[in-house]
Amino acid sequence: MNEQAAQAETTQVQHPLNVAIIGGAGHVGLPFGLALCDCGHTVTLVDLNQSQLDIIRAGQMPFSEINADQLLPRALETGRLHCSTDFADLSTQDVIIVTIGTPVDEYLDPSLRAFDQVMEEVFQHTRPGQLLIIRSTVFPGVTERLGRLIAERNLQIDVSYCPERIAQGRALLELTQLPQLVSGCTEQACQRAADFFSDFGQEIIELSTVEAELGKLFTNSYRYINFSISNQFYMLAQRYDADFDRIYHAITYRYPRMNGFARAGFAGGPCLLKDTMQLASFNHNLLTLGQTAMAVNEGLPGFIVERLKKDHDLTGLTVEILGMAFKGNCDDPRSSLSYKLRKVLTLECRRVLCTDPFINSPDFVSLETILDESDILILGACHDDYRGVQTTKPLIDVFGFTARQEP
Ligand SMILES: NC(=O)c1ccc[n+]([C@@H]2O[C@H](COP(=O)([O-])OP(=O)(O)OC[C@H]3O[C@@H](n4cnc5c(N)ncnc54)[C@H](O)[C@@H]3O)[C@@H](O)[C@H]2O)c1
Repeated sequence: MNEQAAQAETTQVQHPLNVAIIGGAGHVGLPFGLALCDCGHTVTLVDLNQSQLDIIRAGQMPFSEINADQLLPRALETGRLHCSTDFADLSTQDVIIVTIGTPVDEYLDPSLRAFDQVMEEVFQHTRPGQLLIIRSTVFPGVTERLGRLIAERNLQIDVSYCPERIAQGRALLELTQLPQLVSGCTEQACQRAADFFSDFGQEIIELSTVEAELGKLFTNSYRYINFSISNQFYMLAQRYDADFDRIYHAITYRYPRMNGFARAGFAGGPCLLKDTMQLASFNHNLLTLGQTAMAVNEGLPGFIVERLKKDHDLTGLTVEILGMAFKGNCDDPRSSLSYKLRKVLTLECRRVLCTDPFINSPDFVSLETILDESDILILGACHDDYRGVQTTKPLIDVFGFTARQEP
């Protein structure tokens, strides 16, 4: 959906459905719910986070998402969007979608506890004939296991897994642009999921449930490993005092075989590392590429500080991090490597200052204060505000972002 379309009147599907989204106040659930309302469905966001639901009910987005500021008030005005903390509301729905977080535990193994608890709640309130769609990223085999549990209890609902593949912040643009991967525990479940997602007007690609689960994990692990290649090359270039960005430009310029070569930079955020670890863990830690990628990507903040120490006595200096979100133009600090960098710097420097235009934190200071008071600047997130930032202080920019002209 482009911005013009977001301002246009809502469309109406032939068969409007009642849809509940569990985890509906989150980064996947809320935009998905808004897109479904925009298609003409009636959506209930079921979430335990009461304060987040209150913000949504008041017509405010709790996080930034392109086009959502237009779609949210419209969904509320049309009466198609509802918020609830009560799982009993599930019983009146045609479709139940699950978008809760699926984290790894302290040992980097998949943690199924929260997922299983939610499912136990769901089972209390389903009725025969409903379609249950798992949209959270799950470990290989979770959907089949769920199908077995549901069959054992004779709940007579169709179970499907349809992974979310949007980039956070761009969901409302991408939901109507990306082909949808769908799968089901039975042919009927898969077909119903395919019919449901066809409302977004894109191609539907059917897979078995384990293929769809692996497909999603392969996607995130591939991206994570790909970033680590560039980060490792960046560190190598530094060892030779060579300019990684000049090399990057030279070897990608009019050379299509390097199209997939990523920029160097922090590979943080709630999904890439977590999903790579899920895949590694479920394969007896045999995904050595993924584990090596973790060592490289997670090692980048420490590498930056070690390099700085070669030229500076940090113990007397104030170092500043520009951008604390996990990626550029985003307000989400989850698993951002800027925080890891802050930790390492805190051990080494006199003072560490942080700023971010998208994140409210009593710990952060303004960009002006930063430019004024710091001795060294380090770019942590590629926010547009920092493009072309003017300073006479040393600026460490692993991403090569501040000097780049293109958007
Ligand atoms: N963030 C992304 O860009 C993205 C993209 C693709 C896939 N995913 C996957 O989607 C899933 C959700 O990610 P997210 O970023 O939206 O997480 P999130 O933390 O933003 O949202 C999860 C929501 O679930 C709610 N919740 C937790 N436990 C609950 C319960 N028992 N009952 C009801 N609600 C509950 C939370 O309050 C929260 O609002 C994860 O599996 C993630 O890997 C995320």
